[in-house]
This record gives sequence, C-alpha cells and structure tokens, in this order.
Amino acid sequence: DRDIQIIPSVLPADWANMGQCVADLEAAGVDRIQFDVMDGNFVPNLTFGPEMISACRKYCKTPFETQLMVSQYASEVMLEDYVEATKGPNGEPGVVIVHVEACDHLHRVLNKIRELGGSPSVALNPHTPAEAVKNVLCDVDHVLVMTVNPGFGGQAYIPTMLDKIREIRAAIVEGGYDVDIEVDGGIKADWTISQCCDAGANCFIAGSGMFAYPTLKEGCDALRAVAKD
Ligand code: DX5
Repeated sequence: DRDIQIIPSVLPADWANMGQCVADLEAAGVDRIQFDVMDGNFVPNLTFGPEMISACRKYCKTPFETQLMVSQYASEVMLEDYVEATKGPNGEPGVVIVHVEACDHLHRVLNKIRELGGSPSVALNPHTPAEAVKNVLCDVDHVLVMTVNPGFGGQAYIPTMLDKIREIRAAIVEGGYDVDIEVDGGIKADWTISQCCDAGANCFIAGSGMFAYPTLKEGCDALRAVAKD
C-alpha cells in the first residue's frame, strides 16, 4: 500500500495572511501544500503566480505542490518559475502538476520539469479519459484525477471518476511504475475519501473539506483517519 498523504489546497485560506496559513498547515501535520494557480483562461478564475508560492517558502518547511490550471503558453513559458517556487527549503523537488488538456507536448513538458529539478505530475479534468496519460506514466511521479471541474473550491464531488482512478491504478501496477494517484475536488472526511482510497488513490487534496473544521489539525486528522480506515 502507498502512504496516505493529506494535501490541503490554499484556495480557502486568508490570502492576506498566507504565510501564517502555511505555518498553521505545517503545525496541523499535513504532508504537502497545494497552490492552485489559475490564469482566468484555462479555468474561469484567477488566483496567483509563482511569487505567492515563493513568498510562503520561508514560513514553513512543508513540501509544496502547484497545480497549473493555466493555458499552454503559460505552462511552458513559466515552467522554470514554478519549479523554482515549489522547491523545498534545501532545494528538494517540488511537485509541479500540468494539465494534460493544456499541453500539446505533454511528454516534453513533463521531462522539462524533471530536468529543471521538479517532480513532474499530470492532472486530468473530469471528461478526460485515463487513456490520455497512459503513455506518460513512466515520466510522472503523480497523476491527479480531478473530482470536480477545476476553478473553484466548494463544488460537489463527481462519483463517476472512480472507474478512471481504478483504470489508472491498474495501468500503474501493470507497468510497475512508482506513481501516486491524487484526487482533488469535493473531498471530505467521509465516503468520498474512502471511495477514492478503495479505488487506488493515496493522495487527497482538500480545500473546504479541510478548512471547515474549528482547527486545521482537526481537519487533517479527520481526513487521515477516514482514509486509513
Ligand atoms: C479546484 C482546485 C481544488 C479546490 C478543492 O480547481 O484545484 O484544489 O481547491 O476545493 P474543495 O476541496 O473545496 O473542492
């Protein structure tokens, strides 16, 4: 079994105090922190760029991850910025997730991330079949299966993604790859995380499902407890 990893999204955080937020998330015991980069083009929302991620580095030692919900041009042109911004306190590779739908040259982009010192990963929107990533499983460290349409927190989990998770897990096992499956969107400390875990996911990204608790530690503990069930 792969390690269960609880990864909060910073989308629901108080952005005017993001440094404090990542320090609080570290204290809550999360495994990684996800920065949702949105360019108002690939998704109908606009968040922040690499400088927000870099600014948070000095407030915690927790590994960073960024999901690039951005157009192809931004993905390729700014790749080095995101690889640098997500590196660990001692230069450890940060997770850089690109969307298969935004990359005509996905194999090249993923290998560029690795070359630049990042941990390459690929995300699939709900409509995108597992087939779209089968030829890059040897190039990635994580596959992110979106369980909502990207762009906003607080949306309803899409249960029909389970077959896709199973299909990707089977392909990973069949190929003998060392690849985690992440799920993101509407994940709560309930049947959603259990279903995804049973289907083969081991990394759980939660925004509202984490920040809804009185303390972040309670949120992290609740998510981890249900995932481990
Ligand atoms: C959506 C983001 C998700 C979102 C999850 O585009 O990528 O990470 O923040 O939020 P919840 O957990 O509230 O669905």
